[in-house]
Amino acid sequence: MNYPISIEKVSYSRVHEVDFDNLLFGHSYGDHMFIADYYDGDWRDCRIVPYGDISLSPATTFIHYGQSIFEGMKAYKAPDGTPQLFRPERNQERLNISARRMAMPDLPKEIFMEGLNKLIELDHAWIPTKEHCSLYVRPFMFATDDYIGIKPTQNFRFMIITSPAGAYYSKPVRVKVADKYVRAFSGGTGFAKAAGNYAATFLPMKEAREQGYDQVLWLDGRDFKYVQEIGTMNIFFIMDDTIVTPKVNDSLLDGITRDSVIQLLKHLGAKVEERELTIDEIVTAYREGKLEGSFGTGTAATIAPVATYNYKGEDLDLPELSQDSIIYKVKSELEAIKTSKTEDPFGWVKKVKVDTEVV
Ligand SMILES: Cc1ncc(COP(=O)(O)O)c(C=O)c1O
Repeated sequence: MNYPISIEKVSYSRVHEVDFDNLLFGHSYGDHMFIADYYDGDWRDCRIVPYGDISLSPATTFIHYGQSIFEGMKAYKAPDGTPQLFRPERNQERLNISARRMAMPDLPKEIFMEGLNKLIELDHAWIPTKEHCSLYVRPFMFATDDYIGIKPTQNFRFMIITSPAGAYYSKPVRVKVADKYVRAFSGGTGFAKAAGNYAATFLPMKEAREQGYDQVLWLDGRDFKYVQEIGTMNIFFIMDDTIVTPKVNDSLLDGITRDSVIQLLKHLGAKVEERELTIDEIVTAYREGKLEGSFGTGTAATIAPVATYNYKGEDLDLPELSQDSIIYKVKSELEAIKTSKTEDPFGWVKKVKVDTEVV
């Protein structure tokens, strides 16, 4: 092992304080956290320590300039109790895609995977077993130079924390199509999971919520014409018996759920198109009665049907997807794969080995 991990365990687990029957998203955190620091040109001091506050200089670069990226994935338990992760290598690869765009160092795969596995092994009791629940895993990296000045940074920290999570959306989402604000534009950072991308969406989200919508659908940053993605989800439309999703470009996130859903849909024989898609095409399909439904995909929500799009002040209320729809089949198939209740023909699930000593 090039990057050994030291472990300091908690003396008392807080897991018994968690109400697993009433989990809210992002409210409680696992017993431990993983930390690695980058200085003198390499990653060092990989460690797992009790979850808790960290101390940083008020001059720390990321606080001022937003040089910070993150990932999100989920851990589940198989019926025999084995903890497992869903496509974690994709998160590892995407973290480094984000890191390169934000002038941060690549994180070696070994650190990501070993840190993740060891953390889940230690905190496996935090993985909820109730249906639709999981342990949300948040890896993140930020610049730690103690310097208020704009110059390339030399010091970084990578961390992983976990949080038991319940179901994300309980009902179909109401979505406002952005016609004033922009999330991303070609040449920018839209394809990276960069903290600032999210900060810029808080005001549009707040305004959308005040108007009775749950999420914002982003259009391209130049012409307000091409459909991109919803807040934290990729987006799909069912039109003319075809399932269409915007093709990945540098203004939207290459979602892991998006890719899994496309593969599953094709596996089940559905016609899927990844292409440029304009808001006018959606509105026309709606008016002609050809828009059969729409849904978002993301780690947090898995698949969330859309109830309404509000475009330029008009509510376009979508037909409700029938429970026999292929979309619900894909949703339950995906959830069954993640929890090993069905076979995983794609090799997506990665089991976490639990050493009896940590149980
Ligand atoms: C902006 C954005 N788009 C799409 C997604 C969906 O990506 P994934 O399926 O990998 O969670 C997310 C969530 O991570 C996101 O933050």
